[in-house]
Amino acid sequence: MDLLQEIENYIQEAKDLSVSSPEEVEQFRVRFLGKKGIIPALFGRFREVPPEQKREVGQSINTLKNLVQERVTELKSALRSTSSGHSYPDLTLPGDPWLTGSRHPISTVRNEIISIFSRIGFTVSEGPEIEDDQHVFSKLNFPPDHPARDMQDTFFIEKESAADSRNDVLLRTHTSSVQVRVMEKQQPPIRTISPGRVFRNEAISARAHCIFHQIEGLYIDTDVSFAQLKQTLFYFAREFFGPKVNTRFRPSFFPFTEPSAEMDVTCQICGGKGCNVCKYTGWLEILGCGMVDPNVLEYNGIDNEKYTGFAFGMGIERIAMLKYQVNDLRLYFENDLRFLEQFATDLW
Ligand code: PHE
Repeated sequence: MDLLQEIENYIQEAKDLSVSSPEEVEQFRVRFLGKKGIIPALFGRFREVPPEQKREVGQSINTLKNLVQERVTELKSALRSTSSGHSYPDLTLPGDPWLTGSRHPISTVRNEIISIFSRIGFTVSEGPEIEDDQHVFSKLNFPPDHPARDMQDTFFIEKESAADSRNDVLLRTHTSSVQVRVMEKQQPPIRTISPGRVFRNEAISARAHCIFHQIEGLYIDTDVSFAQLKQTLFYFAREFFGPKVNTRFRPSFFPFTEPSAEMDVTCQICGGKGCNVCKYTGWLEILGCGMVDPNVLEYNGIDNEKYTGFAFGMGIERIAMLKYQVNDLRLYFENDLRFLEQFATDLW
């Protein structure tokens, strides 16, 4: 065989070689580079090569030699880094940190509130954020001249005229709109809570935001009473804030409930003794509630002779502020990791 062809075959063999143990690498090395190996033998035969071929053959032998050396180093290190090799990675190296995320505090509080109400039979209902006048105002007994129907309070997407609001499209200002949607579709008994984002045309400050979250509840059945409303919300307050909390109800007004009330809980900062957060009253307002106005039942196709109901609604940020004692609302919306990382243990 032509010497050049022979060298070419060795080059191919060296390129194709694959091994599974260090012993095989050593065999390969000795076969080519050992004293009696292929490469010294080729150099031996070099003397017989006619002068006009010396240059080409010499280059070929060198290529083969370099290739074999490279392959030996390469195969050795490949074996070292696989588990079939006999060495191990450096177990004393520090590990790669595993970054865990955390729940947003608003999600944590929302989930906790949902869990408390689902334990007494409330289901979760959701609805659209872009709503119409019917679901946000009209079917909830808002009079035509109510200030919430004003551009100053509500974000309108399409507004007809001050005189005719029937076709207005707007961002919902409360999740009571979801309860209207539930009543439209379902006859009592209804026992549902509606968590979600709501929008109000407010200047952003530490205490107000144009976006926030609510959870509203609705219970309709035969013989639903104000006493049941109070007991349900008392249960909620104790589950959420702990067994020492007290509640009180103050008369209030909402177009969709009659009678209406606001519920206060013992101030979570001072425990009821009086501090600047509760303005020295010992109480903090956390929600609005009341008996569903019979008009609302009627507008939504529910027999108001047969059924009564109660409703309540609370702001999630407000509850979160009490739980975490973070008193600037804006922090809940900025997504600053330094803020969010503080809640990393709340993996609820
Ligand atoms: N929808 C009211 C609000 O947004 C809260 C509320 C709900 C009050 C149900 C009473 C009954 O402020």
